[in-house]
Amino acid sequence: MRVPMALDRAICAEWYRQNRRRSHALFDSVRPEAYYDRPIPLRNPICFYEGHLPAFSVNTLVKRGLKESGIDSDYEVLFERGIDPEDASSVSRESNGWPSREEIRRYGELADRVIFEALADKPIERGDDPVLRGGLAAYTILEHEPMHQETLRYMWHRLPFERKTRPAQTGRANVGGAPPAPRTVRVPRGAATLGTSQNRWPFGWDNEFAAHRVEVPEFDIDIYNVTNRDFLEFVQARGYERPELWSEEGRDWLRLENVTHPLFWEANGDGWWWRCMFERVPLPESWPVYVSHAEAEAFARWKGRRLPTEAQFHRAAYGTPEGSERSYPWGEEPPAAQHGNFDFRSWDPEPVGSHPAGASAWGIEDLVGNGWEWTSTVFEPYPGFEPMPSYPVYSTDFFDGKHFVMKGASPATARELIRPGFRNWFRGNYPYVYASFRTVGGGS
Ligand code: AVJ
Ligand code: FE
Repeated sequence: MRVPMALDRAICAEWYRQNRRRSHALFDSVRPEAYYDRPIPLRNPICFYEGHLPAFSVNTLVKRGLKESGIDSDYEVLFERGIDPEDASSVSRESNGWPSREEIRRYGELADRVIFEALADKPIERGDDPVLRGGLAAYTILEHEPMHQETLRYMWHRLPFERKTRPAQTGRANVGGAPPAPRTVRVPRGAATLGTSQNRWPFGWDNEFAAHRVEVPEFDIDIYNVTNRDFLEFVQARGYERPELWSEEGRDWLRLENVTHPLFWEANGDGWWWRCMFERVPLPESWPVYVSHAEAEAFARWKGRRLPTEAQFHRAAYGTPEGSERSYPWGEEPPAAQHGNFDFRSWDPEPVGSHPAGASAWGIEDLVGNGWEWTSTVFEPYPGFEPMPSYPVYSTDFFDGKHFVMKGASPATARELIRPGFRNWFRGNYPYVYASFRTVGGGS
């Protein structure tokens, strides 16, 4: 018998199907010999994630949610968690310690069957159970998978070209020409709502609550992201050799990892290549520069400016001169292709200013899409934070003062994850993500 619910079962099943299709395509693009590679040393090997996605869904929806038994308790422990292990010992399994690709895929098929069954017929929305209230566990698995698809793309990006295959119909990079001249705009003092309001959005991760308003003093902000051309000036001015521009963590990182330029740049004689997913191109000057928080902060300091706070980003993206706030920088229309470079349409960035239809009320461009944006805000719980019952350690492990909030979206961010309250975060010295930035002046 079907259990009636507000959460639409058919939409959930279709969403899950699409998630799985996209995950399969990603894993299919890895050559067999690369299946146990660990392209980012601090993360688990590729094979782990093909097991993690279905195991997480079973652990969260079937076991924690429905209180039913899983499929394979060994796998559901082995593949339970997949985020940056701090020390390498927890990821030091030899490749032969992992199951074969066939075994991992077989588990995934069994898991899919159980999840489809749950989405179709099981009581996945129940007011009397905190894990299932409002369909929480179902939303958790449905947003978890696309979130990983983005982190997987970061990993694939670091694989040598010959260890992955370019899917058919993959367009060439849109390298563009010269960037538009940098400009700034003044955003007057006003209120910004941080977080996700439960009346407006059916789901948010725990760190998005409680929604609250903050007053933001007047400031000015770049209309475009800092581009490769802008950042090249910093490199040529020997910005990496000027310790006074860097935080202590940044200086340690430069020294220990020998960092002298953005990770996505590779030396090309006197100039630079940009390393795309499937090819190298001469450094596209008009693309947003992808850098770590430490590099972004050093650049801003060099300019006598700062990174925006999370609240300033909100004000710039969702605020309006009338005082109301928007659901998206461009208004209320659901995110679509004309609004920005997101939702996996491109493997790489595009020139800044390519989506004027996505500009905010202040005329600020590309706030959602073409690269996450680093803020100066340390990732911390909002007042009233409570760990989410469907996945209590989602955020709490990262409230350590070492992670910074990123806002917006990248080319590899699913449309479903785009809402004002969504917060992403990484360590300040993590250079692998599709993260860019812009600078602010004035204000606080
Ligand atoms: C929110 C992207 C920082 O991948 O490290 C996936 C997301 N958490 N599974 C990460 C996540 C658990 C997380 N980020
Ligand atoms: Fe995960």
